[in-house]
Amino acid sequence: MSQAVARKVLADMKAASFIREMFEKGRRLKAEYGEDNVYDFSLGNPNATPPAAFFAALQAAAGEHQPALHRYMPNVGFDETRAAVARFVSREYRLEVDAAAVILTTGAAGGMNVVLRAICNPGDEVITLAPFFPEYRFYIEQAGGTMVMVQTDGEFQPDIPAIAAALTERTRAIIVNTPNNPSGAVYTAEKCRALAELLAGHDRPDRPLYLVCDDPYRRVIFDLDWCPTPVHDYARTILVSSYSKDLSIAGERAGYIVVPAAVPDQGVLLGAMTMLNRTLGFVNAPAFMQRVIARCADALCDVSFYRQNRDLLCNALREFGYELNLPRGALYAFPRTPMADDTAFVDLLLKQRVLAVPGRGFGRPGYMRLSFCVDRRTIERGLPGLKAAMAEVRR
Ligand SMILES: Cc1ncc(COP(=O)(O)O)c(C=O)c1O
Repeated sequence: MSQAVARKVLADMKAASFIREMFEKGRRLKAEYGEDNVYDFSLGNPNATPPAAFFAALQAAAGEHQPALHRYMPNVGFDETRAAVARFVSREYRLEVDAAAVILTTGAAGGMNVVLRAICNPGDEVITLAPFFPEYRFYIEQAGGTMVMVQTDGEFQPDIPAIAAALTERTRAIIVNTPNNPSGAVYTAEKCRALAELLAGHDRPDRPLYLVCDDPYRRVIFDLDWCPTPVHDYARTILVSSYSKDLSIAGERAGYIVVPAAVPDQGVLLGAMTMLNRTLGFVNAPAFMQRVIARCADALCDVSFYRQNRDLLCNALREFGYELNLPRGALYAFPRTPMADDTAFVDLLLKQRVLAVPGRGFGRPGYMRLSFCVDRRTIERGLPGLKAAMAEVRR
């Protein structure tokens, strides 16, 4: 075993190697057949055009010439950006949020690391609801915690009795991600309330139990006006989100944490997170992008672009015989694979030059994730391969 890097990191690299292998296989296929002849549904990289308000804000921010605009800012971020985000969050969540409750972060990913590090003691358990964003395991373990995975039900909704059974004296937090990557499920208002009620029954002043809502897809919803949230029903709820999907600017790393006033010990939590933003090395979201966000904090890309992609992909998948819960949000379809071994089926798809990610990578074997944040042409040209692989299994 190589001694060059830490043992834990080597083990993590091994665990994550199936993603790298997929990536490598895709790279080889693209080299052999050309980019246009490989249908890559494996990456979750938002591809809608950013809204006009973003480009206008970009220009306005670039035209500003005051001293100190490009220096370090307070660790919480610029005040005017926090105020703009607070106004937006108040409207979006229907919850009074003050600028002082907002910390700007390097994307939701940076925010999740800051939050988990702020609350986890060594060995604390953090519950994730499978299928889930695979990076959570790394974030939790980097914070010294242990991940406890609980499966959702057949429609990828929280299974409240299963969560109840997983709660222990060591449970410190539960991460909820709705709309969900990878399932596309939007947790219902009833499930949110039931979860809040369950957690309230376990939360104690000497053993606080946090609900961490990782919400970067909150506004990427289809056929719905509003995404339900447990934040009104459970006091110790922390919100984490970003502009990666709303503005389709994932590369710009603009995110935020909100610790609402209802959270007990709000002040000390904000203080810890403010320090961690710096000591984890992020310092904060890039200064220029903060000044852009201050001008367009409530803008949204054209979500109907994703809805059209979803419809094209999902209608065809169902027609081909795939079993599928229609995604109500986010950027992914998560059909059942027609054979129990999801990795073997993803290999079959590779023969059709279609790239997908096996469900086991998200804690749910027997499924696969297909991203629809791709060009419509990729979907149109990839569909025959998805059909042929299904036909091959049925033969
Ligand atoms: C569920 C989930 N959380 C967090 C992130 C990180 O997003 P950001 O770009 O805001 O860091 C992603 C990115 O795809 C995600 O899918």
